[in-house]
Amino acid sequence: MDYRELYDMAKKASSNAYAPYSKFKVGAALMARNGKIYTGVNVENSSFGATICAERTAFVKAISEGEREFEALAVYGSGGEALPCGICRQFMYEFAPDIMVITGEDEQHLNVRALNKLLPEGFSL
Ligand code: THU
Repeated sequence: MDYRELYDMAKKASSNAYAPYSKFKVGAALMARNGKIYTGVNVENSSFGATICAERTAFVKAISEGEREFEALAVYGSGGEALPCGICRQFMYEFAPDIMVITGEDEQHLNVRALNKLLPEGFSL
């Protein structure tokens, strides 16, 4: 699957986002090394700090299914390009410091960056 298809899966997933507060629906599609795709959406909460981003949802789904090796993650935001937040960058760094991150306003304008560019010198024990 190429990056554009992965982005399209993230976009499709975003329709399931639970975002009644921000109205900013986000979808993520995470591709494991074996080709399996795990999608995720943002899940907001009336206690705003309890909100979970789409990227972390996708990772938690994959990790809890036993997946450990990842190749690429695409993110779609309904209100424009969604770059992963700082918490998500560190969360992903734990499992995939070299993962490719695909973002963009639409499928014609994709940006592809390695996570270690988005989070240089991330923390690890
Ligand atoms: N959000 C994500 O799910 N991923 C991102 O990359 C950026 C932000 C969510 C969190 C919140 O539900 C909404 O977007 C607005 O911040």
